[in-house]
Amino acid sequence: MSPRYDVVSIFPEYLAPLELSLIGKARQAGLLELSIQDLREFATDRHRTVDDTPYGGGAGMVMKPEPWAQALERTLREAPAPEPGEDAFLDAESRRPLLVVPSPAGQVFTQRTAEAFARERHIVFACGRYEGIDERVLDWAAERFRVVPVSLGDYVLNGGEVAVMAMVEAAARLIPGVIGNPESLVEESHAAGLLEYPVYTKPSVWREHPVPEVLLSGNHARIARERRDWQLERTCRRRPDLIDALPPGALDRRDREV
Ligand code: ADE
Repeated sequence: MSPRYDVVSIFPEYLAPLELSLIGKARQAGLLELSIQDLREFATDRHRTVDDTPYGGGAGMVMKPEPWAQALERTLREAPAPEPGEDAFLDAESRRPLLVVPSPAGQVFTQRTAEAFARERHIVFACGRYEGIDERVLDWAAERFRVVPVSLGDYVLNGGEVAVMAMVEAAARLIPGVIGNPESLVEESHAAGLLEYPVYTKPSVWREHPVPEVLLSGNHARIARERRDWQLERTCRRRPDLIDALPPGALDRRDREV
């Protein structure tokens, strides 16, 4: 059964790009079910208000709890039913959908997070705006979902929508069948904790810049070794933190000479 992602936002039109390109095609092919929900449907006043002033004072507005509870309850009602036998070994906790709350105060999203998301059956993304969502929503939701606040990085966006677009794209492309050639997933940046090697195409000399000679040699073992060296050099130069984070044994003796 294909995974289901629900996105709740006050700007559903912000998520329109998820209709396009690879993710749009995956949806059409039935590899991913994606539903975008307007939080304002659950507002009760004429102005469809979803925010209010913060208790204790301070700048900005806070998202009210009740519209969120109702929107999240709807995603639970629409949750995909487990297939017979499929979840037999899961406890009740593991069967709860994942509730991803984008926030600069969350744990940082990485390729490992994308891989974990791609294994989920049902993810609900709750896009906050303003100063955030009333904290009690997360306490309430923790009894119904596995709640994870997730940050795209150490900077502040205006809301969760852009973060959700990045997370959905990074996760959905790892769902089996979404990318035509799964080998491209093996070689890309971050797949093995290193940055990707540089790539070249025709012409072999372009504006006096030649392609590295080894790529024209036809010697596949040499090319593989050279590409590995380029990956290591590039990662050392641009992201030494990734080298420090490699698991023990990730580098062989030849790698360490680079
Ligand atoms: N909302 C605002 N800033 C954010 C960030 N850095 N990551 C995720 N969601 C956010």
